Amino acid sequence: MTHSLRPAAVEDAAAAAELLLGLPDGLADMFGRGEVARRIARVAFEGPSTMLSHRLALVAQEGGAVVGLVVRFPGSQWAALRRRTAAAMLRAAGGRHGPVLVWRGAILDRLIPSMPPGAMYVPALSVAPDHRGRGAGSTLLGRVIEEAVGLGLRVVALDVGERNLGAIHLYSRLGFEVASRQRIRPRRGWAELASLRMELALAGRE
Ligand SMILES: CC(C)(COP(=O)(O)OP(=O)(O)OC[C@H]1O[C@@H](n2cnc3c(N)ncnc32)[C@H](O)[C@@H]1OP(=O)(O)O)[C@@H](O)C(=O)NCCC(=O)NCCS
Repeated sequence: MTHSLRPAAVEDAAAAAELLLGLPDGLADMFGRGEVARRIARVAFEGPSTMLSHRLALVAQEGGAVVGLVVRFPGSQWAALRRRTAAAMLRAAGGRHGPVLVWRGAILDRLIPSMPPGAMYVPALSVAPDHRGRGAGSTLLGRVIEEAVGLGLRVVALDVGERNLGAIHLYSRLGFEVASRQRIRPRRGWAELASLRMELALAGRE
């Protein structure tokens, strides 16, 4: 199946929010797939300078509909984007849900190591459930790899839950290797969380 790729626009927010809620260990796990999670995802996507901003995203279309999303940015932007993402999400969560976001967000943050210099980081890759297994994910990530090579970056880096075997299989097929493993012990009703930083070395691809 060929998918057409294009830069995301703010008008893609509704579709993008659904795709962002499809990410494991994310907003849907904190708040369920209801209005709160959807609002936070939407605000993060609509914002100009968050880690999930439409400005950093590409979408895959099939028959005119958005079926996939990837977000990527050079690691040099990591610290600033991270700060602004937390602030935007907290505002969207509001007083009632803010504490959950701060608490669980801080735990999930610990699963994400700092960014190596010269990396293109991919904080989100998601394809709509009915469209998985038809090449959209590979096409989106393939484009990010091409862009990273074009920018002279050293690696493409991403984090994936250790139990997300389908995604790990896809990344391995594209040449990604495990660079490190982070683990958070079980606590207060949460099972152990384990995440892999996977990297694709770009040397020799110029
Ligand atoms: C991981 C994901 C982005 C892959 O997108 P995709 O469009 O299904 O991927 P492709 O069709 O290009 O590639 C399919 C490969 O992905 C793997 N895959 C992962 N989840 C899959 C699913 N639910 N259905 C089909 N294939 C899946 C398969 O192992 C397959 O490998 P193969 O081509 O060697 O047989 C997509 O399954 C998804 O959105 N999953 C939920 C969100 C998620 O886990 N994102 C990654 C977070 S790190």
